[in-house]
Amino acid sequence: MEVVVIGAGYVGLTTGACLAQMGHSVTCVDIDADRVTDLREGRMPIFEPGLDELARSMSMAGQLHFSAQMSLPLSRAELVLIAVGTPSAADGAIDLTHVEAAVRECARGVRAGTPLVIKSTVVPGTAARLHRLLEQESRPVPVASNPEFLREGSAIGDFCDADRIVIGADEPRSAQVLERLYAPLVARGIPLVSTDTVSAELIKYSANAFLALKIAFINDIADLCEAVGGDITEVANGIGLDGRIGSAFLSPGPGFGGSCFPKDTRALAAMAASRGRRQELVERAIASNDRRRRKIAEQVLRHLEPGGPDRRVAILGCAFKANTDDVREAAALSVVPRLVDAGITVTLHDPRPPRFPPRELDGATWCSTPYAAAENADVVVILTEWDEYRQLDLRRLAGRCRQRRILDYRNLYDPDDVAAAGFDYVSVGRAAVRARTAFTRGGRLRASAAAAPST
Ligand code: UDX
Repeated sequence: MEVVVIGAGYVGLTTGACLAQMGHSVTCVDIDADRVTDLREGRMPIFEPGLDELARSMSMAGQLHFSAQMSLPLSRAELVLIAVGTPSAADGAIDLTHVEAAVRECARGVRAGTPLVIKSTVVPGTAARLHRLLEQESRPVPVASNPEFLREGSAIGDFCDADRIVIGADEPRSAQVLERLYAPLVARGIPLVSTDTVSAELIKYSANAFLALKIAFINDIADLCEAVGGDITEVANGIGLDGRIGSAFLSPGPGFGGSCFPKDTRALAAMAASRGRRQELVERAIASNDRRRRKIAEQVLRHLEPGGPDRRVAILGCAFKANTDDVREAAALSVVPRLVDAGITVTLHDPRPPRFPPRELDGATWCSTPYAAAENADVVVILTEWDEYRQLDLRRLAGRCRQRRILDYRNLYDPDDVAAAGFDYVSVGRAAVRARTAFTRGGRLRASAAAAPST
């Protein structure tokens, strides 16, 4: 099929490259002419494992094209996927300006009956509303929904081996065209959920909100473990083996970040409140997550001698999670400014530093290795679960620090290993692990067992 994807960002580019790999002829259109030039020359605007090779090979095979102009690709399109940004407004509601502009412009350029399919995350009712808008402007173009469930860092796998494909259509033609688009994946046994546009839009928000709730829940239970002496890793394992719960998304951490969970939970809460159906659980998860973020910097400050001269903190990990260079709503963005404001000298490291570091990270010093960042540090704070940090030489790291103290918000290490390297070690929800590792071989409790961290 001839497919046009509007928006060559993280979702549009991944989707375009994967559809091309399925055999479709895809043109990714972006208003940023420099980005189009980069893509034509094989330079990716984002780091996503495997995307550069896939996009380059599909482009060389003539299956994937990039353009800054819409008119010609639209005139040939059998289907248009709209994957433009939907930023948050100040009150948490999403800004649909870019989506509406793209739908209107596409409606002018496509042949009659060509479905415009919204892949961007939009509030329920958006596709139907835009279809009505076009009808009023005497352009009766079908508008459908096809939400994405791609995780940064594993997007290609999430597309090609999706748990399910969701299509939302309010008339049969869009559903038929979308079923044809995804036929190769369905043929491989991937379930296809075909429903109306509102339900499809709600599936996306409900999925992200539920996953965010799950993370907020396990983070709260981790805090409880620290108070009552439990091991969150064991608790998560014990509950995750229940098929009704599932073990995914039960890793405690610094709180959920990224371009989706924070934005989507706020948008859902704002939209629901505006319709008189407040989503109180989602609101509580947002508040709990925001509180967790604020708490991290306070915890770091509590582990520094108050008012000591030239206090130094090394932050390892600025990406909102491993295997991405995306720092949107990352924990570092709330921790670093608070430390810098407190007069702390902050060093930063990330294996994939952002190409354009956000202003929140101003005032900190980027270092080329974790060891350089730890030079003379009083506290080392781990915020992102990069494999590179799991494999750190802890003794070498200890040799660079002034004070040997690690605050690990991703539970990367075995407390035994960290203690052997001479560090005081604070992690998330693992008081019992500290107590248990305090047992000597004879089962006697060593006096040095570290107390649970003050949370
Ligand atoms: C998410 C959804 O997973 C994906 O389906 C949707 O299409 C887009 O939003 P993404 O934001 O890329 O994907 O990352 P994800 O892997 O979901 O992680 C989101 C945040 O939750 C990250 O900050 C991550 O560190 C955190 N997280 C995730 C946890 O703290 N614990 C977990 O167990 C899982």
